[in-house]
Amino acid sequence: MPASGTFGYGEEFEPFLPPGTFSAIVPKSISVETRIGNPPPRAIETPSGLLNSIGLQNPGLDQFVESYLPRLQRYGVPILVNVVGRTVEDYCKVVETLEGLPLVAGFELNVSCPNVKEGLLFGLDPLATSQLIRAVRPLTRGVLMAKLTPNVTDIAEQAVAAEEAGADSISLINTIRAMAVDWRSGKSRIGTETGGLSGPAIRPIALRMTMEASRAVQIPVCAIGGICSAEHVLEFISVGASLVQVGTHLYREPTCLPQLLQDLRHLLAAGDFTALDDVRGNFHPDQDRLPDRERQVP
Ligand SMILES: Cc1cc2nc3c(=O)[nH]c(=O)nc-3n(C[C@H](O)[C@H](O)[C@H](O)COP(=O)(O)O)c2cc1C
Repeated sequence: MPASGTFGYGEEFEPFLPPGTFSAIVPKSISVETRIGNPPPRAIETPSGLLNSIGLQNPGLDQFVESYLPRLQRYGVPILVNVVGRTVEDYCKVVETLEGLPLVAGFELNVSCPNVKEGLLFGLDPLATSQLIRAVRPLTRGVLMAKLTPNVTDIAEQAVAAEEAGADSISLINTIRAMAVDWRSGKSRIGTETGGLSGPAIRPIALRMTMEASRAVQIPVCAIGGICSAEHVLEFISVGASLVQVGTHLYREPTCLPQLLQDLRHLLAAGDFTALDDVRGNFHPDQDRLPDRERQVP
């Protein structure tokens, strides 16, 4: 799937991504109110990743329903609506309004954006994450996915909180809080002091967190973070992911999703694997190299 915020509302990608090239669309976060976002510059390139500070600019719920959703529905694939809010009630309002509309298959709750305060307030505290999911859960029969922040010490704790509260799946990671400065002017290179880092730089962190979250929960884990190739997809699957989202790489290579699918098939066939399930979770620690205290008792 495309990762939220890197695919807009689909229209820019229509010429590159014909229907059928991905399993679901995840549009940019939607809030009840219209948001103008953060001051520019909103994105800069660092040596190995993208630093952004968009600030969840979005047209708001009413405009989304009126003009953006119908365009997304033209793709004919399930839509996983990414939701953000200032309060639990905000999240509930978006979900209630969109529940049951054609092709709206579920909701990805953004409890993790580093560029605004409110998303993180939920995402940093397992209790707040849990209360939010418990409030939204009864409002939808669709898929409920909780998008976690990497800006925590223990990702497994957040994952378990989401699972116990009734999430059907979790996705991780959102961007990592980061900054870039111009030392001559003493100013930030983006419009806010700090922003969120994405792309290849964060992939090793995302991989480690995917492994930790996958070990901690039974529900499917959707891996996100620096994925640029089919090799990367399989690395995430091998540490336990069930599905993946591709974000920043879409900017570099807008047609990458169909190519990725094709490469995945080739790689699996070349390795004598018949399905992703053959690879899923096949990573295991090398027992001989572990210190005694970390060895797993069979
Ligand atoms: C420009 C930009 C805007 C983003 N906007 C959102 C957003 O609105 N909601 C959200 O949940 N994640 C947002 N993200 C985070 C991505 O969905 C993804 O979690 C993150 O970029 C890591 O994946 P990647 O390295 O493949 O980009 C945004 C990322 C970028 C680069």
